[in-house]
Amino acid sequence: MADVEQRPNARAAMRLHELANSLGVAAAVQAAAQLGIADSLGEQPVPVADLARAVGADEGVLHRLMRALAHHGVFRDAGQHRYAHTELSRLLRTDAPGSRRDMVLLAGMPWAWEVWPRLGDAVRTGKAVFPAIYGKDQFRYLSEDAPDAAAVFNRAMTNGSVITGRAVADTLDVADVRTVADIGGGHGLVLRHLLERHQRLSGVLMDLPSVVAGAEAALRPGGGLAGRCRIVGGDCRAEVPFVADLYLLKHVLHMWDDDQAAAALSAIARSAPSGARVVVVEQLVDASPEPGIAAVIDLLMLLNMGGKERTRDDFAALFERCGLRPAGVTATPSMVHLIEAVVR
Ligand SMILES: C[S@@+](CC[C@H](N)C(=O)[O-])C[C@H]1O[C@@H](n2cnc3c(N)ncnc32)[C@H](O)[C@@H]1O
Repeated sequence: MADVEQRPNARAAMRLHELANSLGVAAAVQAAAQLGIADSLGEQPVPVADLARAVGADEGVLHRLMRALAHHGVFRDAGQHRYAHTELSRLLRTDAPGSRRDMVLLAGMPWAWEVWPRLGDAVRTGKAVFPAIYGKDQFRYLSEDAPDAAAVFNRAMTNGSVITGRAVADTLDVADVRTVADIGGGHGLVLRHLLERHQRLSGVLMDLPSVVAGAEAALRPGGGLAGRCRIVGGDCRAEVPFVADLYLLKHVLHMWDDDQAAAALSAIARSAPSGARVVVVEQLVDASPEPGIAAVIDLLMLLNMGGKERTRDDFAALFERCGLRPAGVTATPSMVHLIEAVVR
C-alpha cells in the first residue's frame, strides 16, 4: 500500500508538466498573432506551403506551430497539410468583430511578459515588480518610452471592450441620468455606445492626457457626438474636475492597491453631488463566470501596478472608506459585474 502511495501519479505529473510549460502555448498564440496567420486564412482550408509563403515563414516550422495551436483549438488540422479557421483563430483576424489580436499581442510584448518570472518576488514582498524593472510605473513607461506599445495597449483595451462595453450599455440603467462620466475610459468606446443609444445623455471622457489625445473620432471636436461630449485629460486620483450624475470606472480600480483606488473614489466623492451614482465595472474575483482568468488577471495586476481583482466585500469596504454608500451588484451578459455605490 505504501508503495502505491509513493508511486507518482502519471496523470498528475503530466498535468503539472503541461502547466509548467503552458507559457509555450501562450507564445504559440502570440507567434500566430505576430505573423498574421489568421489574416491569411479565408473560409477554405489552406495548405501550409501557401500560408508559409503568405506570412514569410519556414514551411516546416510553420507546420509545427500550426500543429501545436490546433491542439488547443486555435486553427484546425484539415488533413493533407492544410489548416482551417476555428472560432478561436478567427478572433486573431485583424478585421474580426471584437478582434482579440491586439490583446494577444499585448500579453506577449516584452514589457508585459517580463514581469511573470518575478511573481515569486511579488508574492514575497506584496508589491508590483514593473517599477523595479523599468524605473517608473506602467503608464508613465507607456506614454514616455513606448508609444508603439501604448498604441497596442490602447487598441487592445478598446477591442476588449467591444463585448463588455455592449454588455454594460445593455445592463446599465440610465433612465434618470443626464451626464455620464467615464473615468479611465480609454479612447471612449463605452461612452460612445452609451451616447449613441441614449440621445438625451451627455458624456465626459476622462483619461490620461496622452490617451484622450487618441479618443474616438466621434467624440472629438468635429465628431458626430462632440456636442454632447467633453474630453478631460488628467489623473483621476488627484482630481475629478467636473460634475456628473453617474461616474463609470471600467477596469480602472483593479490596476491599483486600496490606497490608490480610494484616492480615485475619494476624488469623485469630493466633486460629485450627493446622490450621484458611481458604477465600477470589473470582474468579481469571488463571483466571476470565468474564475480561472480572473485569478490570473489578479496576479498580473499585482505584478504591473500593485493592483488586484476584488470581491464584493472588498468593494463595499472601499466604498465605505471613501464616503460612498454601497448600492448593489448587477451581473451582465459578460464576465464583468456592475458594482454600484451612491455619493452620500
Ligand atoms: C485597463 S484600462 C481600461 C480602459 C477602459 N475603461 C476599458 O475598459 O476599456 C485602464 C485605463 O485607465 C487609464 N488610467 C491609468 N491611470 C490613470 C489615471 N491616473 N487617471 C485617469 N486614467 C488613468 C489608462 O490610460 C487606461 O485607459
